[in-house]
Amino acid sequence: MLMATNMISFVIIITLISVSLCQIRSDDLVLQYAAVIFRHGDRTPVEPYPTDPYKNESMWPVKFGQLTNTGKKQHYALGKWLRERYRHMISEEYDPTQIHVRSTDVDRTLMSVEANLAGLFPPVGNSIWDNQLQWQPIPVHTMPTNRDEVLAMQRKCPAYDIALEELQESKEYTDRLSQYQGLMDYLTAYTGAKIKDYNDISYVYNTLYIETLYNFTLPNWTRTVYPDKMREPSCYSFRTATMTPLLARLKVGPLIQEIVTKMANTTLTYPAGYSNAVKLSIYSAHDITVANVLHALGMFDGNCPVYTATILFELLYSQNTAEHFVRISYRNFTGIAEPYVLRIPYCGEVCSFNRFVTLYENLLNINWDFECAKKNIPILGMSMLYSVGILAALFVAHKIIFNRLPRNRLNIMYSNVNTDTKIPDKITEAQKK
Ligand SMILES: *[C@@H]1O[C@H](CO)[C@@H](O)[C@H](O)[C@H]1NC(C)=O
Ligand SMILES: *[C@@H]1O[C@H](CO)[C@@H](O)[C@H](O)[C@H]1NC(C)=O
Ligand SMILES: *[C@@H]1O[C@H](CO)[C@@H](O)[C@H](O)[C@H]1NC(C)=O
Ligand SMILES: *[C@@H]1O[C@H](CO)[C@@H](O)[C@H](O)[C@H]1NC(C)=O
Ligand SMILES: *[C@@H]1O[C@H](CO)[C@@H](O)[C@H](O)[C@H]1NC(C)=O
Repeated sequence: MLMATNMISFVIIITLISVSLCQIRSDDLVLQYAAVIFRHGDRTPVEPYPTDPYKNESMWPVKFGQLTNTGKKQHYALGKWLRERYRHMISEEYDPTQIHVRSTDVDRTLMSVEANLAGLFPPVGNSIWDNQLQWQPIPVHTMPTNRDEVLAMQRKCPAYDIALEELQESKEYTDRLSQYQGLMDYLTAYTGAKIKDYNDISYVYNTLYIETLYNFTLPNWTRTVYPDKMREPSCYSFRTATMTPLLARLKVGPLIQEIVTKMANTTLTYPAGYSNAVKLSIYSAHDITVANVLHALGMFDGNCPVYTATILFELLYSQNTAEHFVRISYRNFTGIAEPYVLRIPYCGEVCSFNRFVTLYENLLNINWDFECAKKNIPILGMSMLYSVGILAALFVAHKIIFNRLPRNRLNIMYSNVNTDTKIPDKITEAQKK
């Protein structure tokens, strides 16, 4: 019975997708709004491991965890690239009504976005204020880490902590992790740090990776494990924070809600001909932010996000059909090239805005403060009762199109705790020698 219902909704979805796709012509799509989330650029290790031969800060070009000149160049280049991409959407002169910039409250993300904005908004015309300086100040907003649930995703949320603990104590989770016990014991022995979870492996992996970038010779003990055996569990660490629908909802809901609310605002003010709504939102953050967003959307490909990795959320308007679409692209390289257009699960590369909102209802209808305070909430369902704002507003605004959508909630595929990825062979005593 359930199968049959699912099958029917599947057929309906496919039909809807094909109907819309026939109407989409890319030359007909106009970009109306973009939200850009990126990782900072090249940096030094945040904290080398205790036995690290390169733990003396004076061996590095800048203090630990800081953005390097390479990182500044990477973001300056990305800013120039964003200028090219959005030259028809935002004016060449800085206009505070068109753009909003937010960063986590960390030196390297603040500095990255400043370098980026230097590339995006070189002064022109009236904004030139010093002939010697190809730069103008652009406001960057931030929020203390422990009060920021939107971008830092670090504000205290008891319900989240409980759900994460439950996950980490689950048999599937501990079983999968135990396959790395040999690796973790080996790393614990050689690094002097207690390595007991994916995040800890990732921390060592990341430090070793940076040391290779800076041409430091890695100690001999790393040869049997770095990079191959450590890569998979390191990158797997990026899945855990959003592993279940509830974790994803509490972690990423506020950010997706903010972006989609801005999109909704744009769909309401366009195509009336004139819009005061913000056109470009820039979010400067971390690898974990990028991974959390991709994973919560069911789009994480399993690779650790690189420096300057960028997710582009774009709202497109079709003049032919007078409909709005969402396109999500991912730039997972530091050089300059066209980003990958990602497939939105159950929808495609260009997804009707209304369907997008339905697909991601789990992230969008969250009442974060209320749900975080609850010690134990039934997953999904109940939150509907408390959700205010966004869905109701969207429902009214798009009632007609909404009615065409399938009634069932579509479940986005999250990674299974037991993925079929290759587990490295356990490291034997013999290999340690
Ligand atoms: C770090 O290196 C500098 C320069 O070689 C040296 O003066 C300093 O004593 C070292 N610090 C430590 C803690 O080893
Ligand atoms: C590391 O070595 C490579 C190859 O010699 C060089 O291109 C690169 O600039 C070096 N990196 C640093 C940070 O010195
Ligand atoms: C590391 O291994 C290389 C080659 O096997 C050897 O020449 C070198 O002496 C070793 N270094 C240390 C510190 O053991
Ligand atoms: C929607 O746009 C209007 C007009 O620019 C603005 O005043 C309002 O704050 C925007 N709302 C959101 C949620 O962005
Ligand atoms: C970059 O992202 C695309 C889309 O997720 C993926 O197919 C590709 O393998 C990624 N490349 C790297 C080097 O991570």
